[in-house]
Amino acid sequence: MLDPASATPPAEPASLGIQTRSIHAGEALDPSTGAVGVPLYQNATYGFRSYAQVEAWRDGAPHFLYAREGNPTVRCLELKVADLEGAEAAVGTATGMAALSATLLHLLPAGAHLVASTHLYATTRSFLCDTLASHGVAVDVADFADPVAVAAAVTPRTRALLCEAFSNPTLRVADIAAAGEVARAAGATLVVDNTFLSPALLRPLAHGADVVVHSATKYLSGHGYTLGGVVAGRRDLVAGVTRTLSALGATMPSFAAWLLLAGAKTLPLRVERHSTNAARLARLLAAHPAVAAVYYPGLPDDPGHAVARHLVGADAPGIAPETRFGGMLAFRLAGGNAAVGPVLDALRLPTIAVSLGDCASLIWPVDGTGLVRLSVGLEDIADLEADFAQALDRAPIPAGEG
Ligand SMILES: Cc1ncc(COP(=O)(O)O)c(C=O)c1O
Repeated sequence: MLDPASATPPAEPASLGIQTRSIHAGEALDPSTGAVGVPLYQNATYGFRSYAQVEAWRDGAPHFLYAREGNPTVRCLELKVADLEGAEAAVGTATGMAALSATLLHLLPAGAHLVASTHLYATTRSFLCDTLASHGVAVDVADFADPVAVAAAVTPRTRALLCEAFSNPTLRVADIAAAGEVARAAGATLVVDNTFLSPALLRPLAHGADVVVHSATKYLSGHGYTLGGVVAGRRDLVAGVTRTLSALGATMPSFAAWLLLAGAKTLPLRVERHSTNAARLARLLAAHPAVAAVYYPGLPDDPGHAVARHLVGADAPGIAPETRFGGMLAFRLAGGNAAVGPVLDALRLPTIAVSLGDCASLIWPVDGTGLVRLSVGLEDIADLEADFAQALDRAPIPAGEG
């Protein structure tokens, strides 16, 4: 029986398949009641039965203390994600931004230097430019698709490198293995945001990353009912991030962990369907005259395709490539921003909303230049294809095109 206070995840990825581990890892009959499925422990503090038990805890015996520093429901989610990522340890956080900010604040003291990807989620960029900079951390950017540029950005003060595996919103593919070599040579820590792919498709630690961060709000949840984040990696690194998180008060609430435990059980199944649907829609979009460009690493002419194939194992025997590239894509309408309204308003299935990774398709006009991001949902692909075909047919196309 698993006692979440003392259980530790395996240091090596288990030999079981990813869908089996998504269901079983971190889970066991509840130690006190035998409840099947991790119960929601919704409490602030944990009692000791005697002073002797307090002393034993001070000497290292496992015991929960206070919910900001640990909770049995959250612990089970941490064990599950650590297993899925092949990490020694993981810690839950209030949001994806809490995961990123606590990790970077832990790794980067004043005077340190960070090499960050040119292609990052906008709020992550703001955190780097505003918060980190005002704490005395120097930040330089490089394109993580170009290992030479990444190496050139390193300085003697570089303590960390940061990239998104597939970037938000334009799906730029980071060469994680090359960045890992640069980080090792510099004695720095490579942090990879794996939100867009999830451990169902990519385990960055196996490719040379030191720390993986997630917005668990997205594919790990899968249903859009909660915010959350996770940091996974070496035990000492995760322990350091955990201390920073506790000090910031940015730990994961147990209700979020409980929802995420339910979502994570179907992660590989969902991600496979997200991926096959996205691959089909990417082809439809690429062939339509109303679309000027499609950003999807699963397309053979995508600039990141070769690196992406290696990362997500699409070259592995017996694996259908179209199941491997995730459910996110972006496209640019040939008619520019004038075409965005007509297309978005004509679509019947995707909801116009930010966020991603939900069962339902979500679509968002990114920046007022005709760029649109699409989180492809789990709907029947024939329905999605018919919907996009009719909506794109209404898009104004500039004269001379189409
Ligand atoms: C790649 C990526 N990282 C981090 C975040 C931040 O996550 P959260 O909204 O859970 O704070 C997001 C949110 O969209 C994201 O897309």
